[in-house]
Amino acid sequence: MENENRRKVCTVGASGKLGQYLVRHALDRGYEVVGVCRERSVEKLAPFADRMTIIPGPTNDREVIRRAVAGCDAVLTVLVPWGVQQYASGTAQAVLDHAEPGARLVFSCGWHISKDGRDRYSWWFRVMVRIMTALAKLARAVEIDDQVEACRRIFASDRRWTVVRGSDLEEGESQGLPVWSRHVGDPVLASNLTRRTDFALFMIEAITDDTLIGEAPAIVGRRSPSALAHAGGTTAAAGD
Ligand SMILES: NC(=O)c1ccc[n+]([C@@H]2O[C@H](COP(=O)([O-])OP(=O)(O)OC[C@H]3O[C@@H](n4cnc5c(N)ncnc54)[C@H](OP(=O)(O)O)[C@@H]3O)[C@@H](O)[C@H]2O)c1
Repeated sequence: MENENRRKVCTVGASGKLGQYLVRHALDRGYEVVGVCRERSVEKLAPFADRMTIIPGPTNDREVIRRAVAGCDAVLTVLVPWGVQQYASGTAQAVLDHAEPGARLVFSCGWHISKDGRDRYSWWFRVMVRIMTALAKLARAVEIDDQVEACRRIFASDRRWTVVRGSDLEEGESQGLPVWSRHVGDPVLASNLTRRTDFALFMIEAITDDTLIGEAPAIVGRRSPSALAHAGGTTAAAGD
């Protein structure tokens, strides 16, 4: 009876670095947690195995996702552009199609994704993205364009979505909820560094923050120099 009203959260891509932080934060907040990860990675979730349900399988397998998201109030999806078989867009589409009506859908990606084309990237950032995209295509290991396609579909959907755009990431103790802006190029983001645990924290917070529905916040560490200089380290949202 005690868990009658416990809210249920599914983490898609639960075994990765970001995914494990998501699982940890969700459990800490008392959510019932379901996680999807590749069969070969189930072992990585061993520290949480007795406190969550693990559904092994490729995250772009529609049947796997349908089972995993059933009854979930929120779905947290780590969008990764692996392989050349539309892994990211297949994963996003399966979540968009099968999540419960009204569920909060929170996706992760990087700053290179733009919702409205109003982000202002440095020449260095643009060159790096082009080089990475080309090299990845050559190696046939990563399909960055497919993460762009995944986000295009999310932006076009009428679901209750948020796409959280991460800066460069580092490990380390939490610094608290990252600061965010609607557009890359905002000076508040200039430090371009966030602790991975805080990226996860932002995604977890988004579950209950309806002001983030339909937004693609670009985040930066709360204690990074640019955040301290431009937001005083006291506000979560830097706005436009
Ligand atoms: N890394 C960065 O600096 C950075 C910067 C900005 C934004 N982001 C965003 O942050 C999120 C997490 O990225 P991350 O770099 O920190 O990685 P991560 O959390 O370690 O996640 C990597 C994910 O990719 C999966 N994966 C690895 N190889 C795969 C394969 N061959 N086929 C299918 N799945 C495979 C992993 O699953 P297994 O556990 O099964 O291997 C894991 O779920 C992503 O959305 C990324 O776009 C990252």
